[in-house]
Amino acid sequence: MGAELIYRGHETQPTSASYTPKPHKPWIHPIRYILREQRLLFVLIGIAIATVFFSLLPASSPNNPYHGGRLIHNNPISDSHFPAESTQLTHHHRVFYQDHFRAGGKVPLGLKSKGQRIVVTGGAGFVGSHLVDRLIARGDSVIVVDNFFTGQKENVMHHFGNPRFELIRHDVVEPLLLEVDQIYHLACPASPVHYKFNPVKTIMTNVVGTLNMLGLAKRVGARFLLTSTSEVYGDPLQHPQVETYWGNVNPIGVRSCYDEGKRTAETLTMDYHRGAGVEARIARIFNTYGPRMCIDDGRVVSNFVAQALRKEPLTVYGDGQQTRSFQYVSDLVEGLMRLMEGEHVGPFNLGNPGEFTMIELAQVVQETIDPNAKIEFRPNTEDDPHKRKPDITKAKDLLGWEPKVSLRQGLPQMVSDFRQRIFGDQKEDSATTTTTKTSSG
Ligand SMILES: NC(=O)c1ccc[n+]([C@@H]2O[C@H](COP(=O)([O-])OP(=O)(O)OC[C@H]3O[C@@H](n4cnc5c(N)ncnc54)[C@H](O)[C@@H]3O)[C@@H](O)[C@H]2O)c1
Repeated sequence: MGAELIYRGHETQPTSASYTPKPHKPWIHPIRYILREQRLLFVLIGIAIATVFFSLLPASSPNNPYHGGRLIHNNPISDSHFPAESTQLTHHHRVFYQDHFRAGGKVPLGLKSKGQRIVVTGGAGFVGSHLVDRLIARGDSVIVVDNFFTGQKENVMHHFGNPRFELIRHDVVEPLLLEVDQIYHLACPASPVHYKFNPVKTIMTNVVGTLNMLGLAKRVGARFLLTSTSEVYGDPLQHPQVETYWGNVNPIGVRSCYDEGKRTAETLTMDYHRGAGVEARIARIFNTYGPRMCIDDGRVVSNFVAQALRKEPLTVYGDGQQTRSFQYVSDLVEGLMRLMEGEHVGPFNLGNPGEFTMIELAQVVQETIDPNAKIEFRPNTEDDPHKRKPDITKAKDLLGWEPKVSLRQGLPQMVSDFRQRIFGDQKEDSATTTTTKTSSG
């Protein structure tokens, strides 16, 4: 049977005779209207009340070690312009978040600021380890980040067990996230032997490593100090070198991985400073010497000292008339710390203006170690600058800094450290002294 379509329009719908509309309540109508139609208004009022309430709660201390429990993204330039920021969660980062949420975003009562939290990249190296000593002595908490390419654990081992000291084996070419107040960025092989060993890695360290550390500085609002070098002046046509001199650098030579790498690192530092508001500092370090230098790193002072101690001839490259200035490491560390704590970006030359020819240096080494040490001349290496001497007027005027230790005062300190590491005699001596003292006491 097929279905039929039937017109029912003429049928009227049944109506209930009992239906009566609800009585009209004139006083309820506007309230219901507001409740129904102005819900958004109520949500906004609620948000406003909550904002006022939470902003009236006592704020976290500005000194608190977690920046008042907030992550800092306070800059006008979007992160996509500065892509090198770290993505890895480290132990410190996890601890930060755990503590942050446990404490409800506030620093627990009784937690006092304990100095600053400072990262020293390359802190297991020669300069870095002396800087770490000073920072720890000042009461700061220090995290050393080092891949031990030229640095060694022995340089910082005396801090193991100190709760304010941490050591992370890490290559700065990879990103890293840490909550810190200051970053001293030293990581980079500094001697020609080491930086020429793998030039591509050297330039990666200078460019990508610096980019990563600047990204970290931007992200956590830390102050950033770059240890650049006098080598940015190349083979200088101006003497002595002032910070305004732009240099005479070979972009394709065997030293370029270091010279040009550091120049790019300076460029990046200034771009992050100008563009992303990172508080930046740049030091241009001139030849520095002292205990804990790598013994066979090819740098002229360590070469001469090690050769004189081993009774080998002192090798002078070229005619020995090229000049260098030599700064004792404690002077440099003082300069770096003043720069970091001061208000000036730089760049600042940090070096000792006392100028020595290689022959004169060899003579001081002879006086200090062995007057009979012989001098042997060899052909000069490629791109070896003829003259290097800092003009430190700017550092004197703006940082109130100048070197205090002369070559004749500093060299014996280095010699006793080298003697101990080459022959181990000092260790034996001190062991004997300790034994004697112990037995007599
Ligand atoms: N000593 C000087 O005379 C002198 C002169 C000019 C500039 N500088 C600069 O000062 C800084 C320190 O120099 P130094 O004399 O102590 O040299 P160094 O070789 O003793 O120290 C460099 C440290 O950086 C570490 N390192 C290298 N590449 C790394 C990487 N990719 N990731 C992590 N760590 C890395 C090394 O293991 C080492 O501990 C360097 O940046 C150097 O360019 C030093």
